[in-house]
Amino acid sequence: MERILLLTPNSSDFMKKIKSHNIILKQFPDKEDYVRIPVGFAGKDVTVLHRCYPEQDRSLIQLFLILNTLKEGGASRVRAVVPYLPYARQDKLFLNGEAMSSKIICGLISRSGCDELVTFDCHFLKKEGEFNYGGLKIKNISLSSMILAYFKKKLHSPKISSPDEGASYFLAKEKDKGVMKKMRGGYSEGKSIYRKPEVEVGFEVKGRDVVIVDDMISTGSTMLKAVEACKKLGAKSISCGATHGLFLNNSLKRLRRAGAKEVITSNSIKSSASKLDISDSLRSVL
Ligand code: R5P
Repeated sequence: MERILLLTPNSSDFMKKIKSHNIILKQFPDKEDYVRIPVGFAGKDVTVLHRCYPEQDRSLIQLFLILNTLKEGGASRVRAVVPYLPYARQDKLFLNGEAMSSKIICGLISRSGCDELVTFDCHFLKKEGEFNYGGLKIKNISLSSMILAYFKKKLHSPKISSPDEGASYFLAKEKDKGVMKKMRGGYSEGKSIYRKPEVEVGFEVKGRDVVIVDDMISTGSTMLKAVEACKKLGAKSISCGATHGLFLNNSLKRLRRAGAKEVITSNSIKSSASKLDISDSLRSVL
């Protein structure tokens, strides 16, 4: 069966590396989205590569329109590659009446016609592999080896660490490692003030080159606390790596100012820290 890869405009930087066709996305005057797939896809095995960050809500609507157009138009298999899956963080309910957004969004992607979603270090999966979540088949690829290989080339026997238990799967193959303890931040019932997380190191970092890895840097609070704690405990150098870099609240600068020697991420979300290219690991699944 013929396989084709379609790219949306926000993923066109992958064009140079992977043979593909463009999807046309436009906006009507009232800001609703218009989608057109200008190549024949009936009977084909189709993969769509579409970044869903920034502008998560709009990008998801575009994704739903694309997937449904492909399915209804007779594509034999429809796969979506969404490098950073938005709405993946509310995968638990803490307060009465909260929406479980991770499951709802996956359900919507599935019902739009997606046979399989391919993504990277998905927050609620916490390991590499194939899963069924909210009715959606998901292939989750981890960039842990790529991130660690980057730092191991530069540093001699670094201490590899994660800022919390959730990201400890990044360290699975490491011998010299440490998992920090994170006391989660968040909103308390009836309060509108957001509490920042606290991080405790709990292992020896004095005089060591420390590498801290996580699935994402969002507001940067977690990574900042981890960097500050390692610095206080006398680490020789501190480097940070994450699959996804949202870098809200000027956090890339704040991390560097706090003492991070280097901060790197993949290009799942493009920024000046995007040193790793996800298309290198995508080739195996396309
Ligand atoms: C949390 O469990 C995640 O693995 C990240 O540590 C967290 O989402 C990062 O968010 P922020 O940068 O806002 O602290």
